[in-house]
Amino acid sequence: MLVLSGAACSPWTSPQAGRNIYAQNCVSCHGDDGRGGAQVPDLTGIAARAGGTYPQRRVLDKLDGYARGAVIYTDVEMPNFGDLLTGRLTRVQTDQGLSRPFPEQIIALDAYLQSIQR
Ligand code: HEC
Repeated sequence: MLVLSGAACSPWTSPQAGRNIYAQNCVSCHGDDGRGGAQVPDLTGIAARAGGTYPQRRVLDKLDGYARGAVIYTDVEMPNFGDLLTGRLTRVQTDQGLSRPFPEQIIALDAYLQSIQR
């Protein structure tokens, strides 16, 4: 599990900020309520599918890795959201004491996704 340091409080990385980014970039496929469709995963069930614990590191890697085309759910690929990778970076600390910079927009999306888990 990753622990957000400080960044969690920033208005740029809040679930509300993530909700706005989600509305602009993700609704078309994952739906307004995040429940997806036939070939698109239900984003309110990420934790449930992962055995009950929200796999934050995997989600961050998925969002950060748009450009790498990693498909982890179906054989339909998510589009490349390279523009989300620009802008301010913020550091995220792992439980191993390592820290990695992530774009704030990705941290915000992750915070929003965590907030909608069933
Ligand atoms: C064109 C349709 C499309 C759009 C737009 C889209 N996605 Fe996806 N998404 C998919 C598909 C298809 C998958 C499953 C295949 C894969 O993993 O790439 C997926 C998978 C995911 C997963 C992995 C789910 C899991 O269980 O681990 C996450 C997280 C996710 N999307 C978040 C987002 C976010 C956040 C956005 C907006 C920035 C977004 N998606 C935009 C189609 C889309």
